Amino acid sequence: MLNTFQQGEHALLPRATHDERARQNFAKGLRGYIQREVLPGLTPLFSGVSAKARAKGDELATRHDVRKAMRREPYFQSYAGLNRTAQELLWLSVIDAIEHDWNRLSAEVEARAGQGGELRIPENFDVPRYVTALDIHCMPGGYASAADPAQFAAGALYERGVYLYAMGYGGPFNDGKGRSVCNYLLKHLPGFEPARILDMGCSVGHSTLPYEEAYPDAEIWGIDVGAPLVRYAHARAAELGSKVNFAQMNAEHTDFEDGSFDLVVSHIMLHETSGKAMPKIFEECFRLLRPGGWMVHCDLPPFDLMDPLTQFILDNETYYNNEPFWGAMREIDQVSLAKKAGFEADTVRFDTAPMVIQAYADESAKGYDKDAASAVADREFKAGEYAPGGGWEVLIARKGA
Ligand SMILES: C[S@@+](CC[C@H](N)C(=O)[O-])C[C@H]1O[C@@H](n2cnc3c(N)ncnc32)[C@H](O)[C@@H]1O
Repeated sequence: MLNTFQQGEHALLPRATHDERARQNFAKGLRGYIQREVLPGLTPLFSGVSAKARAKGDELATRHDVRKAMRREPYFQSYAGLNRTAQELLWLSVIDAIEHDWNRLSAEVEARAGQGGELRIPENFDVPRYVTALDIHCMPGGYASAADPAQFAAGALYERGVYLYAMGYGGPFNDGKGRSVCNYLLKHLPGFEPARILDMGCSVGHSTLPYEEAYPDAEIWGIDVGAPLVRYAHARAAELGSKVNFAQMNAEHTDFEDGSFDLVVSHIMLHETSGKAMPKIFEECFRLLRPGGWMVHCDLPPFDLMDPLTQFILDNETYYNNEPFWGAMREIDQVSLAKKAGFEADTVRFDTAPMVIQAYADESAKGYDKDAASAVADREFKAGEYAPGGGWEVLIARKGA
């Protein structure tokens, strides 16, 4: 596990005082404690609860059955309450640092306005209701708050907050997902040389930047519905020496031309959309791709690949972490949706992209900080924390040539 001090340093990262760091460390430590010490207790609790149910002739066959039985248990209630408290503390500990470092951060963002790649933020933009209706994963103000005075604070909050949330397991630059998918593509589609790549729901560009390393000749765009996110992403990328372009756009209907990309990807975006948006996003991916191009969406696996207890644990995000689509999305038949959008039926599949910290053992794995990787390499992944099987699940599909 990387500690709070091992996040990759750059000028856009909010600088915390000693006390703010101590609070961030506590919030991260509390999360780690819950995962390590409290979460495992749910398994024996479940054994007891399901044995009691069976004795009465009931089978806890679905995640809903498991929830009904488990939510009455004081141990589960304590776990869920602690988890929620840790999540709220985590964001609050970062907000303090952003407020205290505000003037410096504003100047750093401004200074990068003409640097790096292109930044497009339109005048009038409709942020979808599924993003504005509530503060997703309890992040105060959400991704696109009108109360964000210089329109980048949500980016700074996400940058530091998600590092603490992932407890450093995404790597120093939190780019583990992007790197994992890049490794997967380099391995499974050798010879595929995309000239234009689009990352949908890029937030601050964590997962977008690795594509520049994997495909150095490609033109790369990251889009997101949150203006504060893409403004921060652009400044962060420029600071890190990247030429990736960013734009505020909706993945359901972008401004790009038909057939203008070879690869369209997303990382943990789909579960933050909606049942109505998802089919539109798949259709938009199809429209945007050139014949022979690939669509890859990276997220956690669908529920039918997990046992009911794991489903229940993950679904706590729906109930207690302001992620209304988290559970429903994992029940949608994404393979059928992709086929319906026009993708070649025999190419549409779910597959596992090994997390880059595991793939690192393979010498061919590309570009990952070795010290950081070895610090986390022998970590055991637990149900409910990350994808069962230790990988990111990718939905992959090709547009017919
Ligand atoms: C969990 S974050 C993903 C972060 C990033 N992809 C990563 O790997 O770290 C989900 C992002 O999707 C964005 N989003 C949600 N719906 C979207 C849509 N219809 N079009 C574009 N972005 C969207 C949200 O604003 C948010 O930044």
